[in-house]
Amino acid sequence: MMNDSEAVIYEIMGDLYGALPRQGPGSAECTRKAFSMVGPLPERPYVLDVGCGTGGQTLQLAGLTDGHIIALDVFDWALDRLSERVVSCGLTDRIRTTKQSMMEMDFPDESFDLIWSEGALYIMGFENALRKCRELLKPGGFLAATEVCWLRSDPPKEVREFWQQAYPDIKTVADNVQLVNDCEFEMVGQFTLPDSAWWDEYYTPMRELLPSLRERYAHSSEALALLAENEAEMALHEKYSAWYGYEFFICRRPGNM
Ligand SMILES: C[S@@+](CC[C@H](N)C(=O)[O-])C[C@H]1O[C@@H](n2cnc3c(N)ncnc32)[C@H](O)[C@@H]1O
Repeated sequence: MMNDSEAVIYEIMGDLYGALPRQGPGSAECTRKAFSMVGPLPERPYVLDVGCGTGGQTLQLAGLTDGHIIALDVFDWALDRLSERVVSCGLTDRIRTTKQSMMEMDFPDESFDLIWSEGALYIMGFENALRKCRELLKPGGFLAATEVCWLRSDPPKEVREFWQQAYPDIKTVADNVQLVNDCEFEMVGQFTLPDSAWWDEYYTPMRELLPSLRERYAHSSEALALLAENEAEMALHEKYSAWYGYEFFICRRPGNM
C-alpha cells in the first residue's frame, strides 16, 4: 500500500515519463543499428526486454524479428501503456508483458536467444546485470544494452559530483568494455548514442510537458522536486554532454546455439 507521497510520485511518473515516446535516451535508428550487429539468431528467437518502459524498442524489436518477446518492467503505468499498444498493433501472440523487478528475474537459466535493455541495466548495476544476463542467455545468445559511461576521463567537478550522486558506479567506455570481457562475453559491436538520441524522443518532449505538469502538480512539493530534478538533468546535459553519454554494447555469450 502506497502512502500519499509515494502515490503522487507514482502518478506524476506516469504523466511525465509515460507520455514520452521513450523513457530514456535512445532512438529507433540506434535500436536498428544495434540490432544489425546481432546475429545470427534462430528463425523465431526468444527475446527478453529488460526495463521495457512503454515499449518504444519492444515494438520495434517485434518488427525486426519473428520471435517472442517478454517485456519486463516494474511499473504498471509503463506496462499498461505497452499492453494497449501491443493490442492495437495486433502483437498479442508475440509480446508478453511481465511485471517483475529485474533484481528478481526468475526465468530458468539459458532461456533466451537475445536480451535487450535500453537505459535500464544501471538499476541493478552493469556488472550484476552482465552476470545475470549471461546466465539467462543460451550459449551463443546475444545481449544488446545501453549503459551510461564517461566519454572523457577528465569530467569537471559539477558533472562528476552529479554522477557521483546519481550513479557512483559510472565507468569509462574502456572500463565497461573490460567488464564485458571479464564477465565472459565476446564484444560484437559498440557505438555511442548521438546527442539527438537524448533530445528527439526524450528531453525535448519532456521539456514541452513541464509547464503543464508544474501547474497540475503545484500542490505537491515531491512532484515539483521530481520535475526540477529532470530540468537540472537536462541543463547538465546541455553543458556537459561531451563528458558522458550512453554506449550501446552488443555482445555474445560464447558457445553454439
Ligand atoms: C530509463 S527507463 C528506459 C525505458 C525504455 N527501455 C526506454 O529506453 O524507453 C528505465 C526503465 O526501467 C524500469 N525499471 C525501474 N526499476 C526497475 C526494476 N527494478 N526492474 C525492472 N524495471 C525497472 C522503469 O520503469 C523504466 O521503464
